[in-house]
Amino acid sequence: MSSEDIRTVPKSSELIALEQKGYIIGKKIGQGSYAIVRKAEFIDKTTSRVMKLACKIFDKENAPEDFLHKFFPRELEILTKIDNPHLVQVHSILQRGPRVFIFMRYADNGDLLDHIKRAGPVAESNARTWFSQMLAGLEYLHSKNIAHRDLKCENILMTKRFNVKIADFGFARYCVDKEGRRVLSRTYCGSAAYAAPEVISGNPYNPKLADIWSLGVITFIMLNAAMPFDDSNLKQLFKEQTSNILSHQVKVKDILSHQVKNLVGQILEPDITKRIRLDAIKAHDWLRYKSMVRRKVLPGQKLVHSNLSVKQTPKTAFTARERHPLA
Ligand SMILES: Nc1ncnc2c1ncn2[C@@H]1O[C@H](COP(=O)(O)OP(=O)(O)O)[C@@H](O)[C@H]1O
Ligand SMILES: [Mg+2]
Repeated sequence: MSSEDIRTVPKSSELIALEQKGYIIGKKIGQGSYAIVRKAEFIDKTTSRVMKLACKIFDKENAPEDFLHKFFPRELEILTKIDNPHLVQVHSILQRGPRVFIFMRYADNGDLLDHIKRAGPVAESNARTWFSQMLAGLEYLHSKNIAHRDLKCENILMTKRFNVKIADFGFARYCVDKEGRRVLSRTYCGSAAYAAPEVISGNPYNPKLADIWSLGVITFIMLNAAMPFDDSNLKQLFKEQTSNILSHQVKVKDILSHQVKNLVGQILEPDITKRIRLDAIKAHDWLRYKSMVRRKVLPGQKLVHSNLSVKQTPKTAFTARERHPLA
């Protein structure tokens, strides 16, 4: 067991206190930079109903300053403000000493990255359903002037019925000030592989437009089971992002519809003045004319990749002033 595990394994006194409130903490199901996610159950004492939950456990004693004073309070505030079928649903937030327990509805089918690693590229019709659900969730968030800033396959959860929900508001923030004026972001957030070129370049950026880019990267990964750009080196990543050349994998290139390739191309547009906006995405042919999507798989062609090049991406956050990503 790593030292990080020890820090977020609930102590027996905590387990007893939680149990008295009806919560039972189970096995570890996910790990991020500052939190561990465990399976949990809530037993409603009056009805005896058991609810399957996930519990994100934070240990404030071992967290860095910027996380404690900036990101974590934002995550908590935003989690209490959101309520939408396409976003993960929070059940309750409990605090005991330095530990904070965020209980949320359990997503039975894990996250989208695990799904793609297991099952390979997502069929286009399925990708469209999940894209529409993510789009609806993102539209809701943006309508409340919240930018997610860490959209990636690991943060898209799948329910028992294979509906997707946006999760992990660890980097989310309001993108207007108290007077309602738009504020640009200066923090380079999330994973480079999903970050828009204007984020990578370290300049203040419009976080809503950066979210749209990340949604495009997720969509490309769903369709290809591969990353759109080489992110092993930030300079190379920026060069590829701004080259305006998007190469779908040979295995799916010819079976993907013209419409989806067009839409992904318009989302992964490096020029923010030309990048497609949410309203235009909703009106795009790919979402409007379902019958136009070719579902045909070419003879002898399997939609499963043997050596997947999708990978888990590390979470990073450093302010532009502290460290310029391309410097
Ligand atoms: N409600 C949930 N149901 C099932 N799995 C979850 C749930 N929440 C998180 N996970 C799993 O735990 C991982 C980490 O959770 P996340 O909220 O993204 O934390 P972090 O901020 O540490 O990345 C997710 O990628 C997912 O695999
Ligand atoms: Mg996460």
